[in-house]
Amino acid sequence: MNAEHSYLDALQLDRGQRVPLHRQIYERMRSAIEQRMLQPGNRVASARALASELGVARSTVEAAYQQLTGEGYLVARGQAGTVVSAHLPPPVSRAAGPRTVDRHSRKHSSALPNALPQGTAPPPFQLGTPALDAFPRKQWTRLAARRLRMTSTADMFYGDPCGYGPLRQAIATYLLVSRGIACRPEQVFVTAGYRASLAFVVRTLLKPGDRVWTEDPGYPPTRDVLEHAGNRPVAIPVDSEGMLVAHGIRHAPKARMAVVTPSHQAPLGVSLTLPRRLQLLDWASRTNAWIVEDDYDGEYRYSGAPLPALKSLDAHDRVIYAGSFSKTLYPGLALGYLVVPERLVDTCIEAARTWSNGCPQITQATVADFMSASHFSRHLKKTRLLYARRRAMLVAALAAVFGEKVRVDLTSGGMHLIARFTSRVGDRELARRAQQAGLNAQSLSGRYAARRGHNHSDKGLLLGFTNIASADEAMRLCTRLREVLK
Ligand SMILES: Cc1ncc(COP(=O)(O)O)c(C=O)c1O
Repeated sequence: MNAEHSYLDALQLDRGQRVPLHRQIYERMRSAIEQRMLQPGNRVASARALASELGVARSTVEAAYQQLTGEGYLVARGQAGTVVSAHLPPPVSRAAGPRTVDRHSRKHSSALPNALPQGTAPPPFQLGTPALDAFPRKQWTRLAARRLRMTSTADMFYGDPCGYGPLRQAIATYLLVSRGIACRPEQVFVTAGYRASLAFVVRTLLKPGDRVWTEDPGYPPTRDVLEHAGNRPVAIPVDSEGMLVAHGIRHAPKARMAVVTPSHQAPLGVSLTLPRRLQLLDWASRTNAWIVEDDYDGEYRYSGAPLPALKSLDAHDRVIYAGSFSKTLYPGLALGYLVVPERLVDTCIEAARTWSNGCPQITQATVADFMSASHFSRHLKKTRLLYARRRAMLVAALAAVFGEKVRVDLTSGGMHLIARFTSRVGDRELARRAQQAGLNAQSLSGRYAARRGHNHSDKGLLLGFTNIASADEAMRLCTRLREVLK
C-alpha cells in the first residue's frame, strides 16, 4: 500500500451535506496534508483513480486538485503525477483545526496581554511597570487635550502606517543622544509595543521553521511570538556576561536571527559584555543573520551612565533595534518602535502598508510633543533617581525582614531585583503562594525554557520595586511576603 491509500479513509464524503463534493475533497485533503497524513513529496492518487475510489466524477476531483495546486499544497509534475509540496508551513494538530499552530502553543501562553481587570491597580512587586505615581499627568493631559482640540478633518483620515512623522523624528533624535544610535527618521517604525515589533520583524524577515536564538532564561513573550509564527526558538544559556554566543555558534550556527536584551538581560539583569557583543555582531555579519536588540529598559541604570545600545556598534547593519514606551512612559499607551537597517527600509514600508493602519495618531502626536518639549528626558532623569531610591528601600526591607535567609544580587540597573531565599520550597511554589496572597512575585526558574536541573542560582523571586512608594511600604510588603513564605 503506498502513502496515498492511508488517507483515503479521511476522505469519506458526506453526500447529505450541502457542501459541494469538490469542496469536501479539497478540505479533507488539505487537512490530511496539514496534519502530515500526507508528507511533503508524497505522490497522491491520480484524479481518475481517486474519482473511481470515491464514486464521483473525475472533474470533481480535478476541481479540488486544481485549488490545492493553486494554493501550493500540491505540485503537478506532468507524467510523474501530482505530489505534496515540499514547502509547507509547519504541521498542525488535528484538534487544532487547519489554520492554527496548536503544536507550538503552551498551556500558559505568556503572549496574552498582561491586562488587569478594569479599574484594578497593578499588584505589589508587579514586574515591568514604571512608577505610575510619578507620571507627569498634568503635562501629559495638557498636551493630549491640545492635540484633541487641534484635530482637523485631515487628521481624521488614515495616518502613515510606518508612524507619525514628527514622532519618528523625535525618536531618532532621542536615540542619538541617549542610546548612541545614529539613524534617519525613515528607519524608525512605530508599533503597538515590543510584541508587535517582534511579530512584524519575524513576519517580514523569516520563513516558518527558521531557527532563532533566544536567551535562556528569557522573556517568555519572545518565545511565544516566535513559536506562534512557526519559527523555532533555540534556547541559548546566559551567564554573568550575557548570552553565551559561542554556544549558539556551536549548536545552531545557521539560525536566521538572535533576540537579545544586551543592556539588562531579562530577567538576570546582567549586561552583554563587549567581547560577546562583538562576537554576536561578527556571527550575524558572517552568516547574514539578523539580531533583534530588545532595549526595553536600557535607560534605567543606576551606577554610571546607561550603556550604549548594541545597535551603536552595528557596522554591518545587522541589528534591528526594538524600543518601547511601556517602561519610559506607561504600558497602557501600547507604543513601541523599531529602528531597522537602511537596507530593510523599503521592505518594512511595504510590510507596514500591507498589514497595518498604524497606531493611533493622537497618541503618537502627544508623545512627539512630550518628547520635543523635553518632558520625556526630564521624566527619565527623575525616574532613574526615583528607582534607585525605591530599589534601595526594597533591599533594606528584605534584609531587615529576612536577614540571612535572603540574598540579593544587585545588578547595575533594571526595574526588578532577584531575591534568593534559603528555603526548601522551590521558587515556583514560593511565587504561587505569594501570588495567592496578592503579591505578584514571579519565579526565576519559570523563566527558563530548557527544563534542565536547576541549581540554586537558577532560583529566586523576581520582585518589581518601581511602585514601592516608601520605606514603610517596603517593610509592610516584605513582612507580608515573609508570612506567605513561612
Ligand atoms: C524583556 C522585555 N522586553 C520588552 C518589554 C516591553 O514590552 P511591550 O512593549 O510589549 O510592553 C518588556 C516589558 O515588560 C520586557 O520585560
